Amino acid sequence: MTLSHLDYINLIETLNKHAHQYYVLDSPEISDSDYDKLYHQVLDFESNNPLLIESNSPTQRIGDKPLENFEPFTHSSIMASLGNAFDKESLEKFCERVQKGLNTNIFPEFCIEPKIDGAAVAIHYENGQLKVAATRGNGKVGETITQNIKTIRARPLHIKTTEALEIRGEVYMKQSVFDALGGTYSNPRNTASGALRQLDPKIAAERKLDIFIYQVYSNQHFKTHYENIEYLKKLNLPAVPFVTVCKSFDKLWKAVTDIYTNRPNNDFQIDGAVIKLNNIADQKILGFTNKAPRWAIAYKFAAEQAVTTLKDISIQVGRTGILTPVGELIPVFVGGATISRATLHNKSEIDRKGVQIGDQVIIQRAGDVIPEIVGVHEKSKNPIPFEMPKHCPECDTDISHNDEDIAYYCPNYHCPAQVKARFSHFVSKKALDIDGMGEQLVTQLVEKKHLKDLPDLFKLNFNDLMSCERMGEKSANNVLKAIADKKNLSWARFLYGCGISFVGEYSAELLANTFKTPQDLYTATHEDFININGIGEKTAESIYQAIHHDNLRDIIETSQTLGVVFEQEQTQETTHWFSHKTVLITGTLSSMGRSEAQQQIKKLGGKISSAVSKNLDVLIVGDNAGSKLKKANELNNSGSNIIILNETEFLSYIA
Ligand code: IVH
Repeated sequence: MTLSHLDYINLIETLNKHAHQYYVLDSPEISDSDYDKLYHQVLDFESNNPLLIESNSPTQRIGDKPLENFEPFTHSSIMASLGNAFDKESLEKFCERVQKGLNTNIFPEFCIEPKIDGAAVAIHYENGQLKVAATRGNGKVGETITQNIKTIRARPLHIKTTEALEIRGEVYMKQSVFDALGGTYSNPRNTASGALRQLDPKIAAERKLDIFIYQVYSNQHFKTHYENIEYLKKLNLPAVPFVTVCKSFDKLWKAVTDIYTNRPNNDFQIDGAVIKLNNIADQKILGFTNKAPRWAIAYKFAAEQAVTTLKDISIQVGRTGILTPVGELIPVFVGGATISRATLHNKSEIDRKGVQIGDQVIIQRAGDVIPEIVGVHEKSKNPIPFEMPKHCPECDTDISHNDEDIAYYCPNYHCPAQVKARFSHFVSKKALDIDGMGEQLVTQLVEKKHLKDLPDLFKLNFNDLMSCERMGEKSANNVLKAIADKKNLSWARFLYGCGISFVGEYSAELLANTFKTPQDLYTATHEDFININGIGEKTAESIYQAIHHDNLRDIIETSQTLGVVFEQEQTQETTHWFSHKTVLITGTLSSMGRSEAQQQIKKLGGKISSAVSKNLDVLIVGDNAGSKLKKANELNNSGSNIIILNETEFLSYIA
């Protein structure tokens, strides 16, 4: 049958409607094969009339051109993560903190929604058309994956609004789609996030990804998060489901437990519930800590458990030389993934739990947490007791251990297992973030002795890379470019990447902010470290040791000789409440002049505005304020969300 042009246009609309019924509303009105027949009619028409192909045709969802590379994409505002609560009491405490922050005795409204276990993305539309989409990345900069997002059928290609807007949500893979893949992949979340980063969008399309959106940023002035979700639905976007508004803690807790008990009915995995303050003006008042919003929290569901046989115990040598016993298991499905190895932490834990090889053991897995063996389910008739090795299984060096200490160490700094783990950490996402340097490449480069000490990374050349298996010229050049790009490097990330014991991402940031140059760090005393708010005794000890007894100073100086330049990240600007807010001061302030106040706001990342408009975020009101305050109140009455602060409130925000 040959379609007329009008038939073709109508058929596109029909197919898009059915796609919406199927993917978003989950209630298909026609069978898959009927859908396919209509789809093929559209395809036929298009192959005969390529010049007439409409951009909203369902055939256009699948990009046919492999993506060359992922361009970095700077997000319009930080894609924050959420703080966690693991029990009812911490949720109660969270609600109390919110109430205190808002200075109210009334229990505020919260929205409760499922926490989808997938990969976060931001998608930008202009004139109703999808313009660009990116992964979360490090929260500030993600990867541009527009072509892959276009393959997601639940997401309309066109939306019915001309305003520029951004939506944020979670890309996931349906459990049924994952099951149909037949056991080659670890779990739906990793498969989805891997598919999102496929260079060839056709592969991404084959993985049949889905998406739920939990946030829209637009010109509309929503008063509540719930209105935000309603607007998503109005635009036919697949809003996160089961959102409920709760006005008491009992209702909130019931909504959370309902999401938990309802889990088996979903065809998607969730790893918790998200609790969000509903009122957006109140959200703005609470703002963000340097990690997460103060107005939202994730409630993580308890870990799932399963029973399996412990076949053996192997030893893993970590980047600081610590030996960790790892249980080798008969594979078992738990918490959405098949687990064949699980940590046993250390020898004294093994003894405490009474675990022996051959026993039936209980495995536990919660979300991202490494699976662990929590105890014995049933003893084996012929259990084999476990002893820690006397020599490192990787380099044969004598193991060091004293009786007061739980840990067993391989003291050989050059032990290949330690070197591999050290480099894997150095190039990892949260440290130097070197694209294309996965574990396999690091392993090969260490084995070939091209990587020994951390600064060797900056010495790698084309031939070193080409000597590795499965390495083509193009990939080798990409890796070299990725390393060269990191020669101007955030000081905090570098310190984190050096893998100093007890120095995580957060303490590295504190260190980098306090000691702005390597020289400052070398001259700091033990006391100077302890005096940093957020650094404890153990961490201080470890940093001091790394600089004065270990080779941290060497690593820093050699890297500098090889062209590395350390830069400060503008952490203050991005984390302060005033960060990215447009602010206007009206009236006279008694504690400081207006220009000093403006200076302070700018230092904290805010922007100064000269007029009141609906784009204004904050109005600071001093004595004898006049028309500007009146105008801001009028705008607020007609739907704007300008936060109005008096001088005392302003001072407490900048304190
Ligand atoms: S809200 C500022 N809502 O969980 C608030 N996040 O650790 C930002 N996630 O990376 C997040 N389902 O990708 C929100 N209903 C939901 C979510 C959700 C899943 C992910 C999100 C984020 C992570 C937070």
